[in-house]
Amino acid sequence: MTSFKQRVFSGVQPSGNLTLGNYLGAIRNWVGLQDTHETIFCVVDLHAITTWQDPNTLRDATREVAAGMIACGIDPKKSILFNQSQVSAHAELAWIFNCVARMGWLNRMTQFKEKAGKNSERASVGLYVYPDLMAADILLYKATHVPVGADQKQHLELTRDIAQKFNNDYKVDFFPSVEPLIFGEGTRVMSLRDGNAKMSKSDPSENSRINLTDDRDVIAKKIRKARTDSEPLPETLEGLEGRAEARNLMNIFAALSDQTAATICQQYAGQGFAEFKSDLADLSVEVLGPITDEMRRLMGDKAYLDSVLREGASKADAIARPILKEIYDIVGFLRP
Ligand code: AMP
Ligand code: TRP
Repeated sequence: MTSFKQRVFSGVQPSGNLTLGNYLGAIRNWVGLQDTHETIFCVVDLHAITTWQDPNTLRDATREVAAGMIACGIDPKKSILFNQSQVSAHAELAWIFNCVARMGWLNRMTQFKEKAGKNSERASVGLYVYPDLMAADILLYKATHVPVGADQKQHLELTRDIAQKFNNDYKVDFFPSVEPLIFGEGTRVMSLRDGNAKMSKSDPSENSRINLTDDRDVIAKKIRKARTDSEPLPETLEGLEGRAEARNLMNIFAALSDQTAATICQQYAGQGFAEFKSDLADLSVEVLGPITDEMRRLMGDKAYLDSVLREGASKADAIARPILKEIYDIVGFLRP
């Protein structure tokens, strides 16, 4: 068995505002990895256009995601930070993986089913092969660890299947086995309006999510308005079964305060939601306020953001290009 260098890769789509879900489920967990691993973080604009994006909005959202990552603690001196379309090897490897992955595998992807909805005949072909591009993102760098929210687990299993089939078909030990890193109390942050739906950038209801660009008043208002029920808070988490909205707020509280949901539950046992929500609003503002401020400051300096992405892309390309060359040789593409 080849031993692979520990390398982290993860990505976020610039398809709308960054949300509390992106922060708690993903980006926050990346910050610490910068000191222990080689880290590569990507604004995945090629993925974003699998659903319609207005070009100017896409450009802004790409800078905004980069600003958000930096504001959350991703340091361009420690990590490679770039946008996907600047490194063409991603699209090139994705094509090869389109030929490795099987229709049956992609037919099982739940994210496609959710995003395509009832009218899957009208979904883009890109949305269907989205997971092949994601596998290419990761394997182009032979990344070994991928920190994501729980919703990406199935895509990472597909990445492993693609790596394994490629290794088997071509009789090589080329791609590593990818480990998902899904940790913390915030791996699945749900909508503030519906505890059974994921908090998402693309939810039409603004009140369903907290955006990292929301100011302090808006954050507090959204928490106060969050849907709950009329029962008092129980002593243990079992008492929250079937109470998805309450459980979600408990998880958010826990994640933001670096405690377990069980501890928070005990602390508010027997009370209604008024004080709990007021404390959660204060906590959210305390944690997110400085991030919002820094994001806004960075968004005012487009030249800086563009230079970070450009330099990141050049570093990413320097790793990716030689690996893609090897892949082309393995596949049998003639390069006289
Ligand atoms: P996306 O916004 O879909 O590009 O997601 C970027 C990262 O944020 C991925 O690792 C997702 O798993 C994570 N993420 C997105 N929404 C949530 C959520 N509601 N709860 C937890 N993690 C999330
Ligand atoms: N599919 C991921 C999401 O929507 C984003 C993504 C694209 C990604 N490429 C990746 C995440 C590679 C981790 C690794 O959340």
